[in-house]
Amino acid sequence: MTTRDELFLPLFKRHPVTFVRGEGVWLYDAEGKAYLDFMAGIAVNLLGHAHPALVDAISEQAGRVLHTTNLFWTEPAVAAAEAIVSKLPGGGVFFCNSGTEANEAAIKFVRKHAWRKGETDRREIVAIEGSFHGRTLGSLSLTIQPKKWEGFAPLPGDVVSVPFDDVAALDEAITERTAAVFVEPIQGEIGIRPMSQGFIDAARKLTSERGALLVADEVQTGMGRTGSWWGLDHYGVQPDVVTLAKGLGGGVPIGALWARSEFAGAFQPSDHGTTQGGNPLACAACAAVFATIDKEGLVDNARIVGADLRDGLESRGYEVRGRGLLLAVELGREVSSAVVAKALEGGLIVNDVNPTSVRFAPPLVATPDEARQAVERFDAAVKAVT
Ligand SMILES: Cc1ncc(COP(=O)(O)O)c(C=O)c1O
Repeated sequence: MTTRDELFLPLFKRHPVTFVRGEGVWLYDAEGKAYLDFMAGIAVNLLGHAHPALVDAISEQAGRVLHTTNLFWTEPAVAAAEAIVSKLPGGGVFFCNSGTEANEAAIKFVRKHAWRKGETDRREIVAIEGSFHGRTLGSLSLTIQPKKWEGFAPLPGDVVSVPFDDVAALDEAITERTAAVFVEPIQGEIGIRPMSQGFIDAARKLTSERGALLVADEVQTGMGRTGSWWGLDHYGVQPDVVTLAKGLGGGVPIGALWARSEFAGAFQPSDHGTTQGGNPLACAACAAVFATIDKEGLVDNARIVGADLRDGLESRGYEVRGRGLLLAVELGREVSSAVVAKALEGGLIVNDVNPTSVRFAPPLVATPDEARQAVERFDAAVKAVT
């Protein structure tokens, strides 16, 4: 008989838990045990689990129409696009289904922008060491973590990598051949590593001066997670292009590419596309996520509860990186997966973002009391392991 494991290609190491339902910041397994979810599906479930506003929006839309293609107008797609542009300086949106797709679209967008200006040699993309932009070949080529490239060569070329936070190397890398620089305000998957003000300032200044675009990958840092709508807000810098996914649909798959109005014409009909991207179901979820974040003041909550969480962890002697509700504890030893497994046993879901650090990315609806409980459970797990 086929085992459960054999049903899947062996890509993921799953924890021995089956979740059957959730409510707010809590998940419940098949035996009814409650877990404090401080991972939120890797920074996705911004409104927590089964938030009534999201459940209603999805249910209502499911009973109307699920999919029509982008060849027609739909009310949810307009509402979702309006929500995005209302939080960014105008501009236009392309919807897709994931973060990697948003970055694929961005790669094509920045090259087409240069091409339309007649700059056909301007094809290079500058990416930063330690970045993570996705797993499809284009996004993977910008993911400067060579271990993730093994066995997949050749990747698309014309990618120039720059060491993390190295302004001099960035200065050298941006030339008349550079179409764009891709940054994550906080590098997520390498272990929650915020970029410095100096580096982001240099990226903005040098791209503007040299005719390249600045692309902010806000897939993980966007949507209020860092205590501001966008990760780049903390730097006082505005990008030309933004990529979004993860929390954008609060748990329903959707991604987006946003571009400033002055560049929006780079994509013309047939330049890019998707069958299901931006379908009414995903867009209804997306619009409900924006409306609920505003209504419940969740960006402020991320800042306030994020500070509580950080204080709680630091007061127990942990070294913490990150902003708002996107934090990592540095354990200094390769024990993060053991700590995560122990925390799970103790009813706390966190994530071993790298071998020595544990990521906290709870729903933005988390309360100070839930942050306090998470710190207690985490501390107990660390003590049990070490
Ligand atoms: C910054 C960033 N960009 C892109 C991606 C890829 O997103 P997805 O997994 O939805 O393709 C991720 C996923 O972790 C991410 O953190």
